[in-house]
Amino acid sequence: MHVVEMEHPLARDILCRLRDERTEPGAFRSLSRAMGHLLAVECTRRLGTSPIQVKTPLEETFGELCTSPPVLLPILRAGMGLLPAFQDLLPGSPVGFVAVRRDETTAKPLWFYDSVPPLEGRHVIVLDPMLATGGTSGAVVEYVFGRGAAEVTLACVVAAPEGVAELCRFDGLLIIAAAVDRELDDRWYILPGLGDYGDRLFGEGSPEPGP
Ligand code: URA
Repeated sequence: MHVVEMEHPLARDILCRLRDERTEPGAFRSLSRAMGHLLAVECTRRLGTSPIQVKTPLEETFGELCTSPPVLLPILRAGMGLLPAFQDLLPGSPVGFVAVRRDETTAKPLWFYDSVPPLEGRHVIVLDPMLATGGTSGAVVEYVFGRGAAEVTLACVVAAPEGVAELCRFDGLLIIAAAVDRELDDRWYILPGLGDYGDRLFGEGSPEPGP
């Protein structure tokens, strides 16, 4: 397992705005999409390409096209905040869905639903913005490798050191995060973090509008 923390100044800027408790859901969704674009670029750095001849309005030249686009696998619901950005850059990627949430009393993953295309030999990018205990993403990464994926990348906005340590058991896993934060609190929220990503995206728990 290998972790890459994005160094780009735009990633720091966007993350700072995502963290801000005053950022309302509409703006949070736009920022999540912007962060998704940066994550998608980082997650696809090693994608294979093949040469192709192309005719511009002026002459023939050579270009490259990406081969075998990765399978995208958002973990519902927070992963939906990154999916549109990944699809912008990878329009040919098959998309699967898994619905897993953590039991708030035990932090263990509860698996609700999956609808996943064939993964045999594929590069799979799991979209999970908040890597907290690693329970949920670990269950999904295990499932994906179990279905024969050749390579798995986990795209996160914020990761906790506890979650990173939990995922060390996966040899072929690459984690890309905008930041690795300090620690988890006693309810398994990431500190300093940004709160509940799903709530911030979809409105529950957002601050009351000011006067
Ligand atoms: N999931 C979230 O949305 N936020 C956290 O801080 C931890 C898990």
